[in-house]
Amino acid sequence: MVLVRFAFLVAVFVAAFVITKVQADEPAVRLATVEAPRAAAVPHRNGMFLGAAVHGPALDARGYRAALVQHFTAVTPENGLKLAPHWRPGGFDWSEADAIAKVARDGGLGMRLHTLVWEQPDGLLPGMAQLSPETCRARLTDHIRATMDRYADVAVSVDVVNEPLNHRGAVTMTRWTKCLDADVFDLAFRTARAALDARGRYDVALAINEFGTLSPGPKTDALWRLVRDLRARGVPVDTVGFQAHLTVDDAPTRAQLVATFRRFADEGFKVEVTELDVSVASRRLSPAAALARQAQIAEDVVSACLEGAGARCAGVTTWGVTDAWAWRRREVPGTRDTPVLLDEDGRPKPMYNAISGLLAAASPR
Ligand code: G3I
Repeated sequence: MVLVRFAFLVAVFVAAFVITKVQADEPAVRLATVEAPRAAAVPHRNGMFLGAAVHGPALDARGYRAALVQHFTAVTPENGLKLAPHWRPGGFDWSEADAIAKVARDGGLGMRLHTLVWEQPDGLLPGMAQLSPETCRARLTDHIRATMDRYADVAVSVDVVNEPLNHRGAVTMTRWTKCLDADVFDLAFRTARAALDARGRYDVALAINEFGTLSPGPKTDALWRLVRDLRARGVPVDTVGFQAHLTVDDAPTRAQLVATFRRFADEGFKVEVTELDVSVASRRLSPAAALARQAQIAEDVVSACLEGAGARCAGVTTWGVTDAWAWRRREVPGTRDTPVLLDEDGRPKPMYNAISGLLAAASPR
């Protein structure tokens, strides 16, 4: 089996420092001083990668790191870059994301940066409702620049805004908009783009990442309008990220997937499947049938991305490295769900073989 592998081209950058201004009227929150990493491109053949969300605390679990490096070509910190859990009085705690970036650098993998702006509790600045707009804007833009600077060498794409829409398709970024007193999309995307461009990383794609938008419907329509409107306003959105938290009993048809991916790609956007997992909990299938159905669904998602988006299908990421540490297993105590590509011991499942074969076939040797 041939996997897509990243070539790791290294160029040396001038060291730079990012120092956050401390607002006199606010508690002393300061982002860490950041030494610029070496800038290096992480190209991936044919633009495709197979990624996995990494649970930081699992990195030292037996076999986890080895399975990650052996079977994937990109990493996403599952939680390591979320604002609230890592915001400290002395600055952002980079340790979890740094540990994941080290695995990527050492192994020649790319890194998706997830996520800069999110309306859910883990994506908020602590105390943001009390901040002045000036402080709020400074905190966010400083954080974005620091993140881009720190991981510019390994980044392949960035979830700049995560889950901006509610289920009816209305934009629900009210906490951020209120705090910033500015358009959150405009501010976040332009700041990220400028920081990456300053590092020569014009190729790192900036994404909006959303769930519940794989099938036709009001939310998918709203996402389509949103990204087109943003682009028309000059906001540098490159990629539409489609989460794909599916179940064996409830998944879009392949035809629906092809139509959705094609619709966005035809507008010039790259497409990524950003959070693929497929729960095998089923009301009607036997365990063996559920496992086979899981592989079929994953194959549908990936083959539809390749067919619908063609060369604009930029990559596929699964939401967890092994079943033992997958979010769906961790977050529902007592469950024995097996939602991702590798089994508890890090061995490829039918789902993995279905996906990796498609990606390998789509990539030049
Ligand atoms: O780290 C603490 C641990 O110290 C504590 O003992 C434990 C007790 O509950 O909680 C741990 O933190 C949890 C963290 O995941 C790490 O496992 C948080 O409570 C929990 O809320 C957090 O959930 C994450 C969730 O996003 C919210 O940030 C999930 O792991 C993560 O998989 C999930 O990922 C999201 C994507 O970011 C966006 N799309 C949907 C996806 C699934 O919900």
